[in-house]
Amino acid sequence: MQPVKKAMNGTFISFEGIDGAGKSTHIDRLAQSFRAQGRVVTLTREPGGTPLAEQLRQMVLNDPMDAMTEALLVFAARRDHIRQVIVPALARSEVVLCDRFTDATFAYQGAGRGFEWQTLLVLESWVQAHPDQPDRLVQPDLTLWFDLPASIAAQRLAGARVPDKFESQPQAFFEKVASGYAQRLAADPTRFARIHADQTPAAVWNDVEQAVRSKGFLPC
Ligand code: TYD
Repeated sequence: MQPVKKAMNGTFISFEGIDGAGKSTHIDRLAQSFRAQGRVVTLTREPGGTPLAEQLRQMVLNDPMDAMTEALLVFAARRDHIRQVIVPALARSEVVLCDRFTDATFAYQGAGRGFEWQTLLVLESWVQAHPDQPDRLVQPDLTLWFDLPASIAAQRLAGARVPDKFESQPQAFFEKVASGYAQRLAADPTRFARIHADQTPAAVWNDVEQAVRSKGFLPC
């Protein structure tokens, strides 16, 4: 008989949104909330999260390349990140808070840059096959989508810092990216919480906490 495989029993939460949507402070705050409950938190990001994936990040964010190359590089980074960091942390029952994950690839490379959605689905199924349970995908338990109109994100980003390859894209690009996130939400609504990011930071935080509590990940 096959030995019973150890299930992942940590909590995996991803944070998504167009550039300028303002997710960073909420990621840190949520980490503090979990730590206050005695949980160990792994804070990580994509592309990145391992030495190899961070090297790939530099290329993706800075070097010109076509959309397929971008998609392959972010998925290569993700494969390493899942195996080296995410799955081991979940197996230790930790909370993994990940600044962007696969939905960003669908939103940016798929909707934004026009790379085939169907091919991204195939790459997702290969790359995110669980190492110990190949019939299931490694996916967040909850994805917080910070939804902000592209026009407001553009104002927030203007002059904030030297923009990278994506941050310097026109507003129309981010409108497409946002439509990609909406499409991912429609395909898997129970995984997503749509956070209206065009509010005061305190109101946004309130919605973040609500979303995490309603999943039972933090006490009410
Ligand atoms: P971001 O997460 O916003 O980090 P920072 O706040 O340091 O700029 O930047 C990562 C960028 O990478 C962002 O513009 C979205 C892009 N990206 C993709 O295009 N595809 C992906 O799969 C991921 C994870 C990110």
